[in-house]
Amino acid sequence: MNKIYDFDQVIDRRSTNSIKVDSLQDVFGRADLIPLWVADMDFLSPPEITEAMKIRVEHGVFGYVKTDEAYYSSIINWLKNKHEWAVDKKELSFIPGVVKGIAFAIDEFTNTDDKVIIQPPVYPPFKGTTKGLNRAVINNPLIFENGQYRMDFDNLREIAKLDCKILILCNPHNPGGRVWTKEELKELAEICYDNEILVISDEIHSDLALPGFKHTPFATVSEKAAQNCITLMAPSKTFNIAGIVSSFAVIENVEIRKRYFNYLDARQLGEGTIFGYLAAQYAYEYGEEWLNQAIAYIDNNVKFVDRYFKQNIPQIKAIIPEASFLIWLDCRDLNLAQPELESLFVEKAGLALNSGTFFGKEGKGFMRLNVGCPQSTLKKAMDNLKKAVVL
Ligand SMILES: Cc1ncc(COP(=O)(O)O)c(C=O)c1O
Repeated sequence: MNKIYDFDQVIDRRSTNSIKVDSLQDVFGRADLIPLWVADMDFLSPPEITEAMKIRVEHGVFGYVKTDEAYYSSIINWLKNKHEWAVDKKELSFIPGVVKGIAFAIDEFTNTDDKVIIQPPVYPPFKGTTKGLNRAVINNPLIFENGQYRMDFDNLREIAKLDCKILILCNPHNPGGRVWTKEELKELAEICYDNEILVISDEIHSDLALPGFKHTPFATVSEKAAQNCITLMAPSKTFNIAGIVSSFAVIENVEIRKRYFNYLDARQLGEGTIFGYLAAQYAYEYGEEWLNQAIAYIDNNVKFVDRYFKQNIPQIKAIIPEASFLIWLDCRDLNLAQPELESLFVEKAGLALNSGTFFGKEGKGFMRLNVGCPQSTLKKAMDNLKKAVVL
């Protein structure tokens, strides 16, 4: 009999320095909001990880650690079993975060003022790191059609001629939750390869494909993709261990790998910590059943929210995600300007969500809801929202 994990349990995260909870006052001006913003979950992480860390804590000596073979093999086996992706140990390196990994790639493979393509609405640090490093952001906005997003390949072909150096792909996409298909990724790979645009594929949400969808690693769709990309992954979203930091890069192409890994080596950025290695290894070795149950719970939360909107607040539509625990809400039928929309959620409903425009101006009229929480929390949030919209 499989162990049953309890995702209904409500855990008090206050005073743990959790950004999601303990930064409410600073960010929203109120500490009493229901936190449904920052992309981590309110669930206990798999106890198998916690137990392994407890044992290590009990040892009491925390000197320098080497990268264990078991760490590498846990990742290699996970990628093979979960994503049918055969990766060799030499293609792998620890990195201290996916966003940092993106910044390293921009730093190494572009010069100041070079152009980097992003596809908004998208996770804001794609733009932030690019601009922060004084590179130019070129937008290839996604097309919202029939209630879902798709990539604009015609526009990309035009932009690609502008001597762009990198495209940052969000695979699966945040927000919007698209699990890009093999065909879509193949077309993207073709355009980028032919125009010498290196693809940085952020696959941090890849393990969280919801029922009926299957993640495709960008590197696996064609030889053009495999030879022209850096893939960045992590167990952080998957197993709710973002605060531990245990991301990694996978690079098949020898030249790209040499440059990226040399960049890491020169700055000692490819070295992890005791708990980063340990948590990743135990997550990948022992976390699968927990993940299956977490995905089923999230899927049920998505359905709950969708049903609730349809029955009670039809002015707001849930864009059903194909992956992960974030729901992109189409609030345009409320006919509110963005500040009023934000105020409706915060001031009237007492809810902390990410505003759509946080992800680019293309997010106007949208809000992002995190459903990685007990359903009782969501129920309270939806009841608050219903009152706020109706009254
Ligand atoms: C698409 C995407 N990439 C990266 C991150 C953050 O990754 P890290 O904490 O490893 O930098 C997030 C977190 O929300 C994300 O949604």
